[in-house]
Amino acid sequence: MADGGFTSSTQSIPEVKRVPRHVAIIMDGNGRWARKRFLPRVAGHTRGVEALRGTIRAVIERGIEYLTVFAFSSENWRRPSEEVTFLMQLFIKSLQKEVSRLHENGIRFRVIGDLSRFEPSLVQAILNAEELTADNTRLHLTVAANYGGRWDVLTAVNRALAKNPTAHAIDEDAVAAELSMNFAPEPDLFIRTGGEQRISNFLLWQLAYTELYFTETLWPDFDGAALDKAIASYQERERRFGRTSEQLTSDAESDAPCHA
Ligand code: IPE
Ligand code: IPE
Ligand code: MG
Repeated sequence: MADGGFTSSTQSIPEVKRVPRHVAIIMDGNGRWARKRFLPRVAGHTRGVEALRGTIRAVIERGIEYLTVFAFSSENWRRPSEEVTFLMQLFIKSLQKEVSRLHENGIRFRVIGDLSRFEPSLVQAILNAEELTADNTRLHLTVAANYGGRWDVLTAVNRALAKNPTAHAIDEDAVAAELSMNFAPEPDLFIRTGGEQRISNFLLWQLAYTELYFTETLWPDFDGAALDKAIASYQERERRFGRTSEQLTSDAESDAPCHA
């Protein structure tokens, strides 16, 4: 179907595949997982890294091309300082331990978020991992750290304005080009574990047309089977992108491609 001359990115209709190309996850529930076992909250974060390792494997096996995970929000600095310190150390240790394995598995690693608040050693480890894996294409793994959706949009708008200082207005394409996920298609499937049904300032711009899936499963318990449930739910959805259900049926009957 023709696009009718719209230029808005939310009007251009992506090709819909059975397996989502891009999955974005809020990995929530680590603290509650630990508390249920009378363990300190941080034990949940350690187990959370293991759950992420298993999820990366499962995502590759299912042919998903982009995995974006929320590891630390710009609001998480409000947590007790011992927990923040533990999380930073866990991040750096996990990176050091996993980076060669990520590389061997053809995974391209990126971090999105404001790195300026991180220790120089962590920033260096991130940059090294990004550089090492820069040519990999099997899976694009992106970790959102000190990330906030509003920060991302505002940074992009300011960058777009700086490039066009005389412009009275900037358009969606100019902003989208400056967003931290400018290299990826928008997420097809969003998963939040831990039972809360909110976005918590994750990819606000990019989630405009994403299918949302919430599960009570706590992040350390998330695995391939839990991922399959989320994908099965996704496959039952009808992604209309503003069109009517009838339009989709007639498109399918005439075998027309579903991208604009
Ligand atoms: C998510 O688990 C991990 C981070 C935010 C770093 P939580 O630590 O938020 O776990 P709950 O929500 O308290 O159970
Ligand atoms: C969101 O989880 C951020 C991450 C999982 C990293 P939170 O547990 O911090 O979210 P809220 O505060 O409950 O919304
Ligand atoms: Mg939480």
